[in-house]
Amino acid sequence: MTVDMQESCRRATAAQEGELARTLAAAFADDPVLGWLLPAGSGREERLRRFFKIELRHMAFTRGTVWSCEGASGAALCMPPGAWQLPPAVALAQGPAFGRVFGRRLPIAAAFQAAMELRHERRPHWYILAVGVRPEHQGRGLGTTLLRPTLDRCDREGLPAYLEASSERSAALYERLGFDHVRELRLFGSPPLWLMARAPGAER
Ligand SMILES: CC(C)(COP(=O)(O)OP(=O)(O)OC[C@H]1O[C@@H](n2cnc3c(N)ncnc32)[C@H](O)[C@@H]1OP(=O)(O)O)[C@@H](O)C(=O)NCCC(=O)NCCS
Repeated sequence: MTVDMQESCRRATAAQEGELARTLAAAFADDPVLGWLLPAGSGREERLRRFFKIELRHMAFTRGTVWSCEGASGAALCMPPGAWQLPPAVALAQGPAFGRVFGRRLPIAAAFQAAMELRHERRPHWYILAVGVRPEHQGRGLGTTLLRPTLDRCDREGLPAYLEASSERSAALYERLGFDHVRELRLFGSPPLWLMARAPGAER
């Protein structure tokens, strides 16, 4: 990682919600699992933007830390111990907003979310809710840079980290950062989602 990259990774503010939602929507445009939940031709990118706006506003900016970089070309949404789950009252209040994202597939999306939560790490941990880099900036170390502060903090504080990888390629990156596969999740014929945990100091 270059010094420039380290310097360009900083905490984002809530004022950046709109641009970071667009960044994450662009990053996840070809994501296998979100693509299965939001098939192409259904205004997927706009739906993804709305989805990440909810995640940013009601999870990451409220109860977690959002890391971003120069030009908002990437973002990592990191949740501290005890804050990995959308509070039920917020989930209920955001029901209509989720409905506008998933449309008729809302029950499937809700079942998928419930299955993820059922299998979620139960020990105190940092949860990487989402990390994404705009396609034109991928493969240059930004994703690694955006995760670095949280993984370093986990190492310092002796805490595990946890995430769900939605492609083999992203899982390979997380393996290099010290994450191990916990289990694979598939539901209703979905593409696989790999649940991964990282012990403190586990980096190879
Ligand atoms: C995964 C992601 C955040 C990594 O950021 P990055 O800046 O590209 O990552 P780095 O440059 O630090 O590391 C490169 C590694 O990231 C992974 N990666 C790169 N592009 C990727 C992509 N389009 N999809 C999935 N993983 C990718 C690969 O493991 C790559 O290593 P490789 O080139 O040897 O295959 C970014 O590529 C991305 O936003 N991908 C699409 C959305 C996504 O899959 N997010 C994670 C969901 S769990």
